[in-house]
Amino acid sequence: MTPLANDTLLRALRREPTPYVPVWLMRQAGRYLPEYAALRARAGSFMALATTPSLATEVTLQPLARFPLDAAILFSDILTVPDAMGLGLSFAEGEGPRFERTAADERAIEALAAPDLAKLRYVFDAIGEIKRALAGRVPLIGFAGSPFTLACYMIEGGGSADFATVRKMAFARPELLDRLVAVNADAVTQYLDAQVSAGADALMLFDTWGGLLSPSAYRRFSLEPMRAILARLPEHVPTIVFSKGAAASLPAIVECGASCIGLDWTVDLADARHRYGSRVALQGNLDPLALLTDARTVGSAAMAIVEAAGPAPGYVFNLGHGIVPTTPPENVDALVRAVHRASRGRDR
Ligand code: CP3
Repeated sequence: MTPLANDTLLRALRREPTPYVPVWLMRQAGRYLPEYAALRARAGSFMALATTPSLATEVTLQPLARFPLDAAILFSDILTVPDAMGLGLSFAEGEGPRFERTAADERAIEALAAPDLAKLRYVFDAIGEIKRALAGRVPLIGFAGSPFTLACYMIEGGGSADFATVRKMAFARPELLDRLVAVNADAVTQYLDAQVSAGADALMLFDTWGGLLSPSAYRRFSLEPMRAILARLPEHVPTIVFSKGAAASLPAIVECGASCIGLDWTVDLADARHRYGSRVALQGNLDPLALLTDARTVGSAAMAIVEAAGPAPGYVFNLGHGIVPTTPPENVDALVRAVHRASRGRDR
């Protein structure tokens, strides 16, 4: 294995000192980059990009060619796992994800099983190819959806404003939802383990919808299944858990076994660092809409976040959710440089 030229992300996740605050951005590869739009048009669809390792590699590297980012993140999607379980995923142009089949009733859920990992071979092949292309420049983050967030899409068959069917099931058929998230937890554990074998240097669990649940339902259907996954992953690989909208459950989240907790922009970062900074690393949490302004505003917003994080080790700069497609790329450049500038020379 090539040693990493820039291991600031891995050090920060382990709460070791780094010469500056490492920065990467959720959705750093995506539609805000014209070169992404061009390649997607050439490939014909999002799934064609994601399932062709050479194209997934090219997209993964696109933001790194432009900005001095401290990590790459695998270009793929969380919904490839339910797709491999037989639900039939597609992304229509300008629309969200769609499944041909749902897993919403007893029969469909009882029939589900963790997928044959051979169906996700394109992901592991992409990881190998990305690692070779990176040649040790920066670490590669692998990822999966949380069991609950995957369940949301599997039950509804696509996106939803409030995932009402899922929230109702949590009351009407809690044991059925338990079964669905348990199958997903098993699938995600095997999937992430295989990503590590393929070369991923760190892992992230995206729990976009856990915050829709009451605190007790969040613990049962979202946090506990994530804890089960984290307990079974190889110990040497640092992990990040991001539950959007779940700030009220932070005291429980920081105990879930992840190296680092991702925060959305509703969380007071200085307060969270003060409370939890000696137990876990923290990542976040600039509102992605700050990037829709100008370079100067972006720069001062970034400085305010770095200031709030303070100089102690164990902090990774990120947004509080993914980059939106209307983001001007030059503002992303201003952001990354401002984070490095504001944090360099401080002891962390
Ligand atoms: O962050 C990265 O750069 C890595 C790649 C990545 C994608 N999706 C690529 C993508 C990652 C980590 C994801 C995770 C993901 N996918 C989540 C969790 C994080 C979050 O954003 O909340 C969720 C909920 C999904 C499901 C999903 N995929 C939706 C709802 C959509 C459509 C809406 C949207 O935000 O674009 C996607 C499509 C998708 N996944 C795109 C990209 C770049 C856009 C596809 C396109 O039209 O080209």
